[in-house]
Amino acid sequence: MGILSKRSVYAINPIEEEDRVADELSREGKQVIKLNRGDPAVYFKTPKYMIDAYVRALKEGKTGYSDPRGIRELREAVALSYRRKNNVNTDAEHVIVTQGLSEAISMVNSALINEGDRAVLFRPSYPLYRQYLKICGGVEIDGRYDESNRWSIDVDSVAKALRRSPKGKKPKYLLVTNPNNPTGTVLDRKVLGEIVDLANEHGVLLIGDEIYDELVFGGVRFTSLCELAEGVPHIIMNGASKDFDATGFRLGFLLMPEDDKVSKEVREKIRDFATLRLSSNTPAQYAFAEGLNNSSAHAKALRPMLRQIEDRVSFATRLINESGYMKTVRPGGAYYIFPRIDLSGTDLRSDKEFVDRLLKEEHVQLTRGSGFGENGHIRIVALPGKNIIKSAIDNMNLFCKRHST
Ligand SMILES: Cc1ncc(COP(=O)(O)O)c(C=O)c1O
Repeated sequence: MGILSKRSVYAINPIEEEDRVADELSREGKQVIKLNRGDPAVYFKTPKYMIDAYVRALKEGKTGYSDPRGIRELREAVALSYRRKNNVNTDAEHVIVTQGLSEAISMVNSALINEGDRAVLFRPSYPLYRQYLKICGGVEIDGRYDESNRWSIDVDSVAKALRRSPKGKKPKYLLVTNPNNPTGTVLDRKVLGEIVDLANEHGVLLIGDEIYDELVFGGVRFTSLCELAEGVPHIIMNGASKDFDATGFRLGFLLMPEDDKVSKEVREKIRDFATLRLSSNTPAQYAFAEGLNNSSAHAKALRPMLRQIEDRVSFATRLINESGYMKTVRPGGAYYIFPRIDLSGTDLRSDKEFVDRLLKEEHVQLTRGSGFGENGHIRIVALPGKNIIKSAIDNMNLFCKRHST
């Protein structure tokens, strides 16, 4: 028995797993096109009014630990933004600030999951949900997104999964990502309502990861879970990383607007977990509070970024669908595309081999679909400028041609 824990094997992030090879190629002087990490702050500037607020907080000496739940100004700003945007009756007492939404996922699992406990996750979805659940000893129950239905949720798959749960083993939570990473699906209000009804019927805590809620393209309508889940225990997770283009601030939050017994118990326990790591980044919290409160400056910063993202996503979608080797559904939001790759006429055996060899041979770094729970796909981050996207897809086409048998 070595020194590492059994469950440490789950500490793998498929999005970063090729980094060592990519670093080596860069050291050899190769230009690697990195389309694996969804970091908008690499391509767009974090808004100046937020940077100014960050610097102000530093100059004013706001550099100590904060309240473990987050500074009151930020918790109030979060509650106000949900009152305004989603008409939810809530206040600062219902908000806990975390170090990125990632920490919220880790805390929720630590607070809820015992060995063998079950949770409903959807495939394909963000890898970290699965990893944190397994690190805590939990077991995933599979909900499905349906590629033949524009990657919408297959509600029947959820209903069946819930019905199949043995007595006394009902899932601890059901987590839905909207808009979704990696498919960019923005859920229809009716489908989301059906999910809420199912969770309510089976007494399962609902969790909504809505980190891309404002990165939604023209003509598509986003509905927050909290608009439909009044009276049902639920958690909304969101943060500064994507809508506010501030990934490096490492700020997220949980909003638990209900005051039923379960919601109160979970909120209190997550607050206990927040005390274990003392505080989130204090000056960044002041900057995020300013980001939320100054809604006109936020809208002004978001609009051009979203326009460019939509343009790049549309461009990448078109090139992929013209390639003849890959096929994708046009996403409704976020900045990923998730093409199906047809490996049948090639000498490649899996999406993992596709991604490994593409990096080594063409110096394009992507993420394998199986990392999101969906084999036979790849995820492309469509954030860079169009010339970079075009070079990457040209290289992918050359690669596919070379490997055709
Ligand atoms: C769906 C989803 N949730 C959470 C995160 C991580 O968010 P944070 O930077 O706030 O930890 C990501 C990052 O890509 C994501 O795609």
